[in-house]
Formats: sequence, C-alpha cells, structure tokens
Amino acid sequence: MSNKPEKKEVETTGHSWDGIEEFNNPLPRWWLWTFYACIFWGVLYTIAYPAWPLLSGATPGVLGYSTRGQVAAEIAAVDEANAGINEQLASADLTQISANPELQSYATNAGAAVFRTWCAQCHGSGAAGAKGYPNLLDDDWLWGGSIEDIHATIAHGIRNETDADARFSQMPAFGTDELLEKEQIAQVVNYVMSLSGEAQNPEMIAEGAVVYEENCAACHADDGTGDRTQGAPNLTDAIWLYGGDYDTLVTTVSQARYGVMPNWNARLSDAEVAAVATYVHGLGGGE
Ligand code: HEC
Ligand code: HEC
Repeated sequence: MSNKPEKKEVETTGHSWDGIEEFNNPLPRWWLWTFYACIFWGVLYTIAYPAWPLLSGATPGVLGYSTRGQVAAEIAAVDEANAGINEQLASADLTQISANPELQSYATNAGAAVFRTWCAQCHGSGAAGAKGYPNLLDDDWLWGGSIEDIHATIAHGIRNETDADARFSQMPAFGTDELLEKEQIAQVVNYVMSLSGEAQNPEMIAEGAVVYEENCAACHADDGTGDRTQGAPNLTDAIWLYGGDYDTLVTTVSQARYGVMPNWNARLSDAEVAAVATYVHGLGGGE
C-alpha cells in the first residue's frame, strides 16, 4: 500500500512515516502577499496609533489619537450643544421651571443623571434612602419639600462646615452628655413610641411626656410633628430616619445623630444643582 501519487510532480520534504510522505508545496501567492501586507499594516499602525507599552503609558503614535481625547471631544460637543439650555436653567426662577415643558424635561433628565452619579451612593439609586439617609420619594421632609427648600438643601448641604449657609441644627446627646438619666431616656422613648401608635407602658408614657415637654418640644414641637426650620423630624408619622424600635430610639436619644450632607454648589454647576432639585422635586413628594 502506498499513498504516493503516480507521477512525482511535487517535491517532498524527504520525511516519510509509515510510507506517508510530506509534500513541500510552495505557499499560495495570495496567502503570502496577504501575510506580508498584514505585517506592513501592523508596523504602520504601531507608528500611527498608541501602541508599545512604556513604563508609564505607551508610545503616543504620530496621529496623536487617544480614546480619552475622543471622549473629551464628545463631552465638549455635548456641553456646547447644551450650553444655551443650561444657562437658561441656571438663571431660571425655580418655580417657573415646571411652566416651561422643554426646560422641565431637560432638567428632569439631566437631574436624573446627576443623581445617579452624585446622590445614589447615599440616597439609593431609586432615591428611597437608607438608614440615616432620607427617602426622597415620600412627602416626609426634614427641611422642606418646596422646590426652593430642596434647592437650598442641595446647594448648601446639611451640617457641613464648608458652607456658611448650610442647614444647621444639633440635637443634644442626652445620654452621652448626661443631660438625662437612663430612666428618663427610657421614659421619653416610651412616650415617643406612643406618638406613632406603638402602645407602651402607660406609666412610662406619662413620665415621658413630662421629659419630652421639657427637653424635646422646643425642636420636635409640642405635638411631636417636628420643625422644618431645624430639620427636626416628625416623630408621629412612623417614618424613621434611624429606626423606630426601642433600642434604636434609646441610642438616638442618648447619642444624637448629626447627619451630614455635603454642599453640592461646590462640586456641581448652578445648572446641575437646579436640574437635580427639579428631579428630586418631581419624584413624588415635591410640594
Ligand atoms: C454622603 C452622603 C450623601 C450624599 C452623597 C448626598 N446626600 Fe442628601 N442627605 C444626606 C444626609 C445624611 C441627609 C439628612 C441629613 C439630616 O439628618 O438632616 C440628606 C438630606 C438630603 C435632603 C433633605 C431631605 C429632607 O427630608 O429634607 C435632600 C433634598 C437631599 N439630601 C438631596 C441630595 C441630592 C440631590 C444629592 C446629590 C446631589 C445628595 N442628597 C447627596 C447625605 C447625602
Ligand atoms: C436642638 C433641637 C433638638 C432637640 C432639643 C431634640 N431633638 Fe431630636 N432631633 C433633632 C434633629 C435635628 C434630628 C435629626 C437627626 C440628626 O441630627 O441627624 C433629631 C432626630 C431625632 C430622632 C430620630 C428620628 C428618626 O426619624 O430616626 C428622635 C427619635 C429624636 N430626635 C428624639 C428626640 C427626643 C426624645 C428629644 C428630647 C429628649 C429630642 N429629640 C430633642 C433635633 C432636636
């Protein structure tokens, strides 16, 4: 048995295994030229574009192209296209934004983008908040839910030292600073829980009402509905920023909380602050 062709037209390499020989055909022309063209293209490419890794970065390429540069150019083009409407937004009277459908829809979309980038870490991607970070979807506002209030809160922040116009108030740490006895804190917590309908020990509630009247009413109001000028939460609505169970309330009253939000006027443009205020106001709780 032999696989040899009848006539020996093609040279073999001389290798032979079990009678099978290896032809030594030349490479097809088209294949060879394509191969050379690829090498040539490859060399040109590494000269023209960023290619060879160096210690930091890579050879830049003679065309000066970079993906970063391209992104920067695209961002600049979008900024330029939006410059007019951003200026309009920055100078608009906040309460008039909703009267202008085009501006309103631009502000809501731009505001949603700002929110995803800058606010979602704390307030949640859906703005539903988390422990210590208020839910922005409901109509329960610490500092006020009108567009102006929301705008001022966002622009200047809350309890941060960097903006003199920041919203500011400070609940005393009744336990840590020994303003109240442990027993009095237990009483007032019983009273606070009773405000939102959590039945507690009636004697404790009666004692707690007195403690409340003397220590808490100045900020949280006589009836417990809170005070927006001081960011003092409503204690009657069963909506809790830090939690409404007994132990959490004891901690809140003993140590106080001091929630801080940055002032966004330092990081965002006027138009962006107006946009995100419009977006938050439009989430459902806006007044
Ligand atoms: C570092 C965390 C953090 C980030 C980021 C943050 N916030 Fe806040 N925000 C807070 C805290 C904490 C409070 C509540 C402070 C308090 O107890 O009064 C708050 C409160 C608010 C309030 C007031 C709610 C009310 O009931 O009155 C608004 C409005 C608000 N944030 C909007 C925003 C927007 C818009 C952004 C993004 C531009 C943002 N926040 C980013 C922490 C944050
Ligand atoms: C100087 C004003 C002030 C006084 C006085 C004060 N609070 Fe507060 N309280 C606040 C503020 C402001 C907050 C918002 C939380 C923060 O600081 O981040 C708060 C928050 C709370 C919370 C948390 C509510 C939640 O939704 O989680 C409770 C509970 C509370 N206070 C109870 C009391 C009780 C009880 C007293 C009296 C013993 C009292 N407070 C006295 C200003 C005050």
